[in-house]
Amino acid sequence: MQRNQKVKIAPSILSADFARLGEQVQEATKAGADYIHIDVMDGRFVPQITIGAPVVAAIRRWTDLPLDVHLMIESPEQQISQFAKAGASIITVHMETCLHIHRGVQMIKDAGCKAGISINPATSISVLDEILPEVDLVLLMTVNPGFSGQTFIESTLNKITRLRKELDRRSLKAELEVDGGINIETASRVVKAGATVLVAGAAIFNSRESVEEAINKLRVSLRSLAVD
Ligand code: DX5
Ligand code: ZN
Repeated sequence: MQRNQKVKIAPSILSADFARLGEQVQEATKAGADYIHIDVMDGRFVPQITIGAPVVAAIRRWTDLPLDVHLMIESPEQQISQFAKAGASIITVHMETCLHIHRGVQMIKDAGCKAGISINPATSISVLDEILPEVDLVLLMTVNPGFSGQTFIESTLNKITRLRKELDRRSLKAELEVDGGINIETASRVVKAGATVLVAGAAIFNSRESVEEAINKLRVSLRSLAVD
């Protein structure tokens, strides 16, 4: 855990009401979210097709928060400039889809964005070894990518712990973001293990409570760790 550093909350709009996306992004912004997490899916790397760069550009007009764009697509290099122009602040590509990851990271930076790399639950953190000093963010998937509302995969907790140790050992400042199954029960456990950015979809955009109430609950769940 990066002590004394506020844990960031990144609502995933995948669970939002797409018919009133602007308002939902505004609600999350007013409620104190730190990033807006945007899940881009191509129907190939993952089963669903979600949104493309024009929607990112539309969201850009509804918030000043950094847009955290998670590309779950094949050949992501081909799309980087489009998403950067649309207003992405952070662009994250999957290790599993990006053949020339070093080039991909440079392309993201050259486009003026922060560069993130993501790995699936079954991909070992060892594949990050060489690229780790180059990235601004590592996104550890804590469910298999593709859908919101899935259950947190317990074995990923150990990956968070090990990656945190490695980042600290090498004095690297990359953010450690976790994505999938994060809620008031799992949030404190992943933060304790070393996560610094929490993506949450179903726990924030749901019919039980307002976006503000949901974000507050997440922050309250972190209180005992004194990092919220
Ligand atoms: C899944 C996406 C996530 C998803 C998380 O592939 O990357 O961002 O929206 O949803 P929850 O928080 O509901 O598991
Ligand atoms: Zn995501």
